[in-house]
Amino acid sequence: SVIPVIAIDGPSASGKGTVAQRVAAILGFHFLDSGALYRLLGLAANQRGVALTDESGLAQLALAMDIRFEGEAIWLFGAPVGDELRSEHAAAAASQVAALPAVRAALLDKQRAFRQAPGLVADGRDMASVVFTDAVCKVFLTASAEARAERRYKQLIGKGMSANIALLLQEIRLRDERDSQRSVAPLQIAPGAALLDSTPLSIEQAVEEVLVRYRAAC
Ligand code: C5P
Repeated sequence: SVIPVIAIDGPSASGKGTVAQRVAAILGFHFLDSGALYRLLGLAANQRGVALTDESGLAQLALAMDIRFEGEAIWLFGAPVGDELRSEHAAAAASQVAALPAVRAALLDKQRAFRQAPGLVADGRDMASVVFTDAVCKVFLTASAEARAERRYKQLIGKGMSANIALLLQEIRLRDERDSQRSVAPLQIAPGAALLDSTPLSIEQAVEEVLVRYRAAC
């Protein structure tokens, strides 16, 4: 039988990562943070001196990337990756490499390998539209740019990092624009996806909304 996938797409800081992770924990499913793969590629490129514009070099690096996820911990080429992966700098690099078609193609198999029994919750931008088109449940999780900037601010401060809310809002708007304007796999609501606006919702409420939809779909 087909291994079920719950695809949760949406813009940065919409809460989809946290929601997807909790839904996966509740259902006992595997979890894919696809954005982390793009972030890791940006990081690997920096480490190895591959330019963020070198499409074939980046695609090659994407195929060669040795990544290990273990709970919250991530290893890249055998070395632990720290909080730098969540920085706005890493996000900007990710967004840049993610606009390259060869890079996206190179990361397809790595993403699909996460589909293992009993199921997978995958979060990203094109989980429903490209990577797992046969997902049993497709949710587009969004929130206002202001709410997302505030959440990202609290997240960074909570990790002991410094943050500027006006700057975060600016970066979120810029990244939204780049992610939705690009020609390959632009951020959009996939056909058949349910739109969930989390602006007025708590994380718990958003998780419940996804679970209700998943149970209704099966
Ligand atoms: O979700 P996260 O903020 O970690 O994603 C970082 C960047 O990676 C996004 O801004 C987007 O450009 C890219 N991305 C993507 N497709 C995905 C996940 C992330 O293009 N499935």
